[in-house]
Amino acid sequence: MLLAPWRSPLSRALHRNRSQPYSRYLQLATVDFQGLPANRTVVFRGFLENSNQLQIITDARSNKIAHIQAKPWAEICWYFSKSREQFRLFGKLILVTAADVKPTLQLARQRAWQNLSDSARLQFSWPNPGEKRTENLEAFSSSDISAKEPVNNFCLLLLTPEKVDHLELKGEPQNRCLYLLQQDRTWSTQPINP
Ligand SMILES: Cc1cc2nc3c(=O)[nH]c(=O)nc-3n(C[C@H](O)[C@H](O)[C@H](O)COP(=O)(O)O)c2cc1C
Repeated sequence: MLLAPWRSPLSRALHRNRSQPYSRYLQLATVDFQGLPANRTVVFRGFLENSNQLQIITDARSNKIAHIQAKPWAEICWYFSKSREQFRLFGKLILVTAADVKPTLQLARQRAWQNLSDSARLQFSWPNPGEKRTENLEAFSSSDISAKEPVNNFCLLLLTPEKVDHLELKGEPQNRCLYLLQQDRTWSTQPINP
């Protein structure tokens, strides 16, 4: 697998901003049933092995799932405050649920689960997200959650970028570069005006 040309500036940004844990938080925008935007913060969980696909984890019961099933298009907006640069990655999302039959994707889902902390795993057994607040606080604690086998609510999301827009505020003038995936699956790289 060939690394896409935007991978090295993105790796550099992750490295330069590594002292700031929130540099792994990014905004993921999807489109709802009415064609309206829906945006939220998620955590970058690294790239799927041997691919240019970004891994994100989420709950099967969350609103975004139905949006993605109807329209898989998404855009990530990611700002690195130390190096003052933004990446916008546009592409399609692949949803990997407990029902997914592809062994490589199921393995990736399992690995993502195993890499979570106990408290992060627990969230997937909380009462339904987005519903009226559950009064019984015991519903938010559980003792027997496997660290090995993901619960059914646990989903892996993979974003396959087709367009990447990289803007660096540092520099006079600023630098901006557009990467586009071509029909022949190679990438074009074009510096553009900021
Ligand atoms: C710092 C931060 C990190 C978050 N990370 C995730 C995440 O990795 N996955 C996720 O589904 N939601 C994450 N959330 C919660 C989402 O922002 C959002 O509230 C939730 O996923 C429900 O979104 P939806 O109703 O659009 O599906 C995070 C929120 C914050 C503030």
